[in-house]
Amino acid sequence: MFRTVLFAFALVSTTAFTPTTRVFGIRGVHTTLRMASRYSLPDQPARFAKAKAEKNARHLDIDSCYDPAFLAGKRVAVTGANRGIGLSLAKELTAQGAKVVGLVRKSSPELDALNPDEVITGIDVTSDEACASIGGKVKNGPIDILINNAGYFYEPVEKIEGGELNFSEEMKMIDICAVGPLRVTSALYNANLLTKEKSTIAMITSQGGSIDWRTTQNPDGGDYGHHMSKAAANMMGVLVAQEMRKFGIACGILHPGFNKTEMTAKYAKIWEVEGAVDAEVGAKRVLHEVGRINMETTGKFINCEDGLEIPW
Ligand SMILES: NC(=O)c1ccc[n+]([C@@H]2O[C@H](COP(=O)([O-])OP(=O)(O)OC[C@H]3O[C@@H](n4cnc5c(N)ncnc54)[C@H](OP(=O)(O)O)[C@@H]3O)[C@@H](O)[C@H]2O)c1
Repeated sequence: MFRTVLFAFALVSTTAFTPTTRVFGIRGVHTTLRMASRYSLPDQPARFAKAKAEKNARHLDIDSCYDPAFLAGKRVAVTGANRGIGLSLAKELTAQGAKVVGLVRKSSPELDALNPDEVITGIDVTSDEACASIGGKVKNGPIDILINNAGYFYEPVEKIEGGELNFSEEMKMIDICAVGPLRVTSALYNANLLTKEKSTIAMITSQGGSIDWRTTQNPDGGDYGHHMSKAAANMMGVLVAQEMRKFGIACGILHPGFNKTEMTAKYAKIWEVEGAVDAEVGAKRVLHEVGRINMETTGKFINCEDGLEIPW
């Protein structure tokens, strides 16, 4: 009996990261177990190759499962809506009949062309004053969905070796990516712009915030500030989820997938092999997962590429 339990445990352990179907016998009875893992794979090229081998529609063709009906008429605030994934979110939200509230440092012609419900400029997420002013500037009513998307990734690779660390850039990334979304969330909540039992919060963090995945994704370390900032953002997201729980406000923590934006232009050489998508596709993947944030899933860290969890 003890050996059977051990065997079953070993099977679960070795398949923790691999959705698979196993057939094995216990006491002569063949049992089929579908061991669909709750976790995404840390090896990004392998994850993409596996999705292609399995013809995984959720991963490869978001249109096959994306149902945006929930967005119609919703007021959705997006930080960093002027370019990149944020702009694509604003475009897709507009196409689906949502009312976009752009929270940006500066607008862009592309954002203005969408004729958003509101565009609030001057919102540098590192500024206490600018963020605190949001409450007084939102004119057209409460926010149904807040998407904290703005982020920053210092371009050069940071290494101890060669003295290539940049401590002020590290603090800047932490300020923008981890403290910034907290400033914005707090400003909206305290201005009664998030509605109890109704509003939803999405924190766009990154797989780069997973400590568990560093040994696979960064076997030689490096990019300290980026990974520290996103791990801090994940912690912030879980604490927001916990604090907001009693108000019935759910908070999802989302890796948006690998998107072809200015932020990842330095990785353009690996875009195709690692499955990077246009931000229009990334935005749909994000909104698909935003639609799944609720009081059961609150505080979970989800890979918008495949809808699976990422371990902390
Ligand atoms: N692209 C990917 O593959 C990928 C992967 C994982 C996670 N992410 C995350 O997804 C989010 C969007 O990324 P992206 O690829 O769209 O990046 P991006 O193209 O570089 O755009 C970054 C956005 O953040 C805004 N922003 C930067 N610093 C800000 C500040 N201090 N205050 C207010 N806004 C600020 C930028 O506004 P300005 O125009 O004013 O600079 C811009 O709108 C980020 O949080 C990023 O970390 C992206």
